[in-house]
Amino acid sequence: MKNNQISLDKFIKKSLYNKENGYYSKKKFFGSRGDFITSPLISHLYSEMLAIWCVAFWEKLNKPKKIRIIELGPGDGTMCFEMINVFKRFDAFYDCLKINLLEISKDLIKKQKLKLRNEKIKWISNLNQIKSGPIIFIGNEFFDSLPIKQLKKNNNSFLEKYASFSKNEKKIKFSFKAAGKKLTKDIIKLKLNDYGDFIEYPIISIKYLEKLSKMINTFGGGLLMIDYGYNIKKMGDTLQAVKNHKFSKLNKDIGKNDISAHVNFYLFSEILKSKKLNVSKVVTQSEFLQKMGIIQRANILANKMSFKEKSNLFYRMKRLLDKKEMGEIFKVLFAQKKNQDFNLGF
Ligand SMILES: C[S@@+](CC[C@H](N)C(=O)[O-])C[C@H]1O[C@@H](n2cnc3c(N)ncnc32)[C@H](O)[C@@H]1O
Repeated sequence: MKNNQISLDKFIKKSLYNKENGYYSKKKFFGSRGDFITSPLISHLYSEMLAIWCVAFWEKLNKPKKIRIIELGPGDGTMCFEMINVFKRFDAFYDCLKINLLEISKDLIKKQKLKLRNEKIKWISNLNQIKSGPIIFIGNEFFDSLPIKQLKKNNNSFLEKYASFSKNEKKIKFSFKAAGKKLTKDIIKLKLNDYGDFIEYPIISIKYLEKLSKMINTFGGGLLMIDYGYNIKKMGDTLQAVKNHKFSKLNKDIGKNDISAHVNFYLFSEILKSKKLNVSKVVTQSEFLQKMGIIQRANILANKMSFKEKSNLFYRMKRLLDKKEMGEIFKVLFAQKKNQDFNLGF
């Protein structure tokens, strides 16, 4: 088994992004007939609130002549599509707008291109392609979908989780082995050993946070992120595999499960603060959307609706706002350049 061992983050990468059989090369994984559903697919009011938030942030920045929105991991393009519909109602903003979509899945890029036929949009594969701002980075369920490492404390050292494959790759076992020197150094540098005995190291997310902070410090703007997650320091094992809207086993049906881990918002806030950004408090999705006026907006729309349409609208609102559904487990964080103090929604 020894030669067929890979670290957990590499295993997740292989399961999600492998070109032939990785999860993101699958044809249908979003929506009610897919494996999971995200907020933008539940109600267009969600994207509408985020679009209004972007316009308000641009106003707070004194309406710069150019404003760039970069969506991180745009999925099937629904959120961007709905946001553009709102942006078109704000002529002055729309004239200044450029949009970039950062997407890793070739299949999703095809889907996005079919849905989003708009000259303002350019797809990028690397953030280094961007040379100007200010930039509003926006990511819905982006960070919770990125590969992580898991470690356990072992006296004064760490053990890292590995996946071992059988010869035909059909059987997979997880086990822990001593973490390498470089990894141990990184864990200590990030003070992750203070986060409990079980550590989830979001190695890719941290690289993104560092890059985005640098770009925000250089070009101005901010990062608005909405993810599945928690806001206490202590970490636990939050890795999950989901298939057909049900929990599934991480080591079964490789490439057929969506794999994600909860975001530790406490850690993310600390990292963004260490990069000299002004970081908001963490609020729940429900608080954010209600502060943005989603209920008032729904009531206005409901005035002209039939009973059936109203029921549908409020059923969907409940899914976004209820604490037993997506209202509390999803959290929102905003980090902006130090000299800015935009706080709408927080
Ligand atoms: C859970 S989906 C969320 C999709 C969408 N934002 C939504 O809320 O419906 C994660 C998205 O991030 C993309 N993604 C994952 N890892 C990525 C990476 N390293 N770089 C760019 N996009 C990535 C996926 O292909 C997918 O579009």
